[in-house]
Amino acid sequence: MNTPGDHMPGVSVSPSSSKSPMPRFGVLGSGKGSNFRALTEAFQVGTLCAQPVIVLSDVEHAGILDLGRELELPSRFVSPGPFRTKMSPAAEAEIVRLLREAKVDFVVLAGFMRVIKELLLQAFPRRILNIHPSLLPAFRGLEAWRQAVEAGVPEAGCTVHLVDFGVDTGRILGQSRVPLLYGDTAESLYARIQIAEHELYPRIVREFAEKLGTPEN
Ligand code: GRF
Repeated sequence: MNTPGDHMPGVSVSPSSSKSPMPRFGVLGSGKGSNFRALTEAFQVGTLCAQPVIVLSDVEHAGILDLGRELELPSRFVSPGPFRTKMSPAAEAEIVRLLREAKVDFVVLAGFMRVIKELLLQAFPRRILNIHPSLLPAFRGLEAWRQAVEAGVPEAGCTVHLVDFGVDTGRILGQSRVPLLYGDTAESLYARIQIAEHELYPRIVREFAEKLGTPEN
């Protein structure tokens, strides 16, 4: 079994460019993990400038955990407790413990479907990133792509932002625009938004990692 803090064997291909230590990040997700896959692919080709070192999920059989194990990363289910939309304080404390044990510098939410609360926010202030499938501040919350189709807007997109105490409210770090096409359904639009996410998230994570430790960060 993988244990956090183990040597990070690698997302098996090593980045070629630099030998200096890279910032380390932990990933939290509840779903299939396609954004996590895009991040690891960027890491493998040496364009991410940050190293994924642990994957945690509130969903026991989430695809993102399978992907983490495939990549030989410590990959753990953390039982979320009795609430539907947030983790119990005990579950958040366990996540903080695992992230600290893995010595992460920052945290990347990749389809994590629960609201982050005090314990985690205070453990990693201004160090938690999220990707949301809309052009924030438009369409916060669930199924933002469906909200966009139902609202009849001409364009949708995705946003990477810092996580704060609100839901999808933190400082925006980057966005990609995705025009609606004639005949789009919620599903067809979301498929194109996900393609945009897979380009946007690695780019913004790289920029964030490059700025870590500078005065404004
Ligand atoms: C993405 O669409 C992201 O915007 C949202 O959750 C979804 C996760 O998808 N926060 P995946 O698991 O990365 O495929």
